[in-house]
Amino acid sequence: MKAAVIHEFGEPEVFRYEDVTTPEPAAGEVLVKVAACGVNHYDLYLRMGAVFTDLQFPHILGADISGTIADVGPDVSGWSEGDRVIVAPGYTIDPVDWDVRPENRAPSFEVTGTHTWGGNADYIRMPARFVLRDETKLPPVEVAALPLCLMTAVHAVETLGEVKSGTRVLVQAGASGSGNACVQVARALGARVASTVGSEAKRETAAQAGAELVINYNVEPFADVLLDWTDGVGVDVVIDNVGASVFEDNLKALRVGGIFVNFGLVGGMKATINFKELFFRQPQLRGSFMGSMDELRRGLDMLATGKVKAVIDKTFAMQDIAQAHAYIASRAVRGKVVLIP
Ligand SMILES: NC(=O)c1ccc[n+]([C@@H]2O[C@H](COP(=O)([O-])OP(=O)(O)OC[C@H]3O[C@@H](n4cnc5c(N)ncnc54)[C@H](OP(=O)(O)O)[C@@H]3O)[C@@H](O)[C@H]2O)c1
Repeated sequence: MKAAVIHEFGEPEVFRYEDVTTPEPAAGEVLVKVAACGVNHYDLYLRMGAVFTDLQFPHILGADISGTIADVGPDVSGWSEGDRVIVAPGYTIDPVDWDVRPENRAPSFEVTGTHTWGGNADYIRMPARFVLRDETKLPPVEVAALPLCLMTAVHAVETLGEVKSGTRVLVQAGASGSGNACVQVARALGARVASTVGSEAKRETAAQAGAELVINYNVEPFADVLLDWTDGVGVDVVIDNVGASVFEDNLKALRVGGIFVNFGLVGGMKATINFKELFFRQPQLRGSFMGSMDELRRGLDMLATGKVKAVIDKTFAMQDIAQAHAYIASRAVRGKVVLIP
């Protein structure tokens, strides 16, 4: 099969589109023919060696996969060649963890394509239990744009953020892939959503996702705007995928006892915390990583019923993956970038 392979960490130029042996499904596994594969910012970190340095080369990235069953290994039932599927964007790679719930707190839970080969290829081999039937009836490109962000959004916004009807929530970077999904999920839950963007070109993307207040945080001090929006009280929940650069202002924008959920670090990994603020203002600091299969199913139900939509900025042919990564790194993306093998 053809695949976008990396043989070393580095800039987008490290990708080589080349022939590799098509994997064969072992017992309990299926082979999925990849129809489309979304790109996540996480893929850029993996490619650069920024989060894990122990990947085995050659390696194939890619977590967001829609496709069809191409082959079925021994001891697998219920799947036939041609069935439309969605591959779990994260799963417990060690079978000893298969009964751990929630799955995303198991030691071996990781994003698909981290220590196993991902979907930047014609085919991917997966444990059958981590493949879902695609009942969305949407084009494969749209389906591949969302599983990782939806799983993340349901976990961060609904489960950890406890967002419900009427909650006032700030979602950072509402035009980013993950931020956009969080705005949509929060709106689907009936929340009142404010969001930030880094340029005027992105304002409409966040608004269309359902943000009633969109703040360009490079122009206005977003915490002050949010305090005005909430009559000085602060928002109930902050959903943050940016990290250090906005941490202090995130806490300033949060009401006393509000919930702060972080799942990203594009704006830096390390911030300082003022303990006086922590104990007087009692923010509930919650770290969020991906989500469970049930949360993924819940997100996919929202997609299938039109409560959330795929927002696709650009598609690229798989052999142009280096351009796709460079485009995401440029910070210009509104919504998602999807690769087509
Ligand atoms: N833990 C999880 O489960 C999980 C799941 C999904 C994503 N994430 C994390 O969430 C973050 C965003 O991921 P994504 O896939 O949504 O990314 P993306 O679609 O590439 O969007 C990233 C956006 O972040 C904003 N940003 C703010 N400060 C930035 C900076 N200093 N440099 C670059 N961009 C900056 C930019 O939007 P503006 O121009 O509007 O500021 C940029 O477009 C990443 O850290 C990713 O690893 C984590």
